[in-house]
Amino acid sequence: MKIVICYFSGTGNTRKVAECFAQNLTDKGHEVQTVSVDGVTLQKKLPDELTKAIIDCDMLGIGYPVYAFNAPPIMLAFARRLPHLLKQRKRTFIFTSSGEPLKLNNISSLKLCNYLRVRRFDVTNEYHYCMPYNIMFRHSDEMALKMWQTAQQLIPLDAEEILQGRKKLLERVRFGRIIAWTMRCEQWGGKLNGKLYSVSKDCISCGKCVKDCPTHNIRLTKKGKFRFGGKCLMCMRCAHFCPQNAIRIGLFNSWKVNGPYTFVEPKTEEEKQHYNKLLAKAYEQYFDAADRRIDAARQCEAE
Ligand SMILES: Cc1cc2nc3c(=O)[nH]c(=O)nc-3n(C[C@H](O)[C@H](O)[C@H](O)COP(=O)(O)O)c2cc1C
Ligand code: SF4
Ligand code: SF4
Repeated sequence: MKIVICYFSGTGNTRKVAECFAQNLTDKGHEVQTVSVDGVTLQKKLPDELTKAIIDCDMLGIGYPVYAFNAPPIMLAFARRLPHLLKQRKRTFIFTSSGEPLKLNNISSLKLCNYLRVRRFDVTNEYHYCMPYNIMFRHSDEMALKMWQTAQQLIPLDAEEILQGRKKLLERVRFGRIIAWTMRCEQWGGKLNGKLYSVSKDCISCGKCVKDCPTHNIRLTKKGKFRFGGKCLMCMRCAHFCPQNAIRIGLFNSWKVNGPYTFVEPKTEEEKQHYNKLLAKAYEQYFDAADRRIDAARQCEAE
């Protein structure tokens, strides 16, 4: 089977999930192409090769991080640029990553699914993985690793489910459409806040933030000043990966999380931090449900 996986990832979590899906599906003998949708908003249409690959494939996968209980605007822009399929419907699966395991995150795909439906992409499977926060607060390395290890165990089961044609959609919460619509104010709020970003004197002018911004929103003037435009997605890539922690993220600066997660076991007890207290119960439930699913799969395999 030919499978195309298109994803957006601000700070790498969703990319890890996309690559893990791709690896699993490839190991099961399928031809998988993964494509980042960075820069998709800079053109009115998708590159011709990508459109062709999507039309020719047997299944499309779409991945993104949840932003304020919605899909990021860049993912919606991608969906609007998808071709309207004429011949037959295309099986599609969605995967998301988000910092907390709240059921409210399940509403994030509602608008995206509308765009997909009218273009005849049938969403048959949908999965959510808890991954460390890239805004608000930093998860401990221990927690980040636990999340990633859990996702790595769930993804092969989910990939198998998709391949076997077993439909699975996420449970929506009541009034989901209204909540998602209300929370979409984050998108224009993000654009406005993006203009308030600034760079401190710690900057070493390495140019990383300018080069990596998915919407080309950062400009370095001839006088060496940074200009932030009105196309910010609040994806956090510039601030998260700045080697000098020199970027201030406007009104949300106290929520900044700088420096990539290593996803390795903390070596010493001092390095270990305890799990975050916030939403502790929800995380516990997420890990318990994941363990039950992994154990059930192991038992099935043993029988
Ligand atoms: C602007 C913004 C809004 C976010 N909103 C949510 C949210 O509503 N729910 C949630 O659980 N996580 C939220 N997060 C956290 C991210 O979804 C999470 O860290 C994700 O794994 C980041 O993926 P990435 O590294 O692929 O960008 C938000 C992050 C950002 C930057
Ligand atoms: S990534 Fe940081 S140090 Fe590098 S140019 Fe941007 S602000 Fe300056
Ligand atoms: S300015 Fe920073 S946060 Fe905004 S879209 Fe570009 S990389 Fe993302």
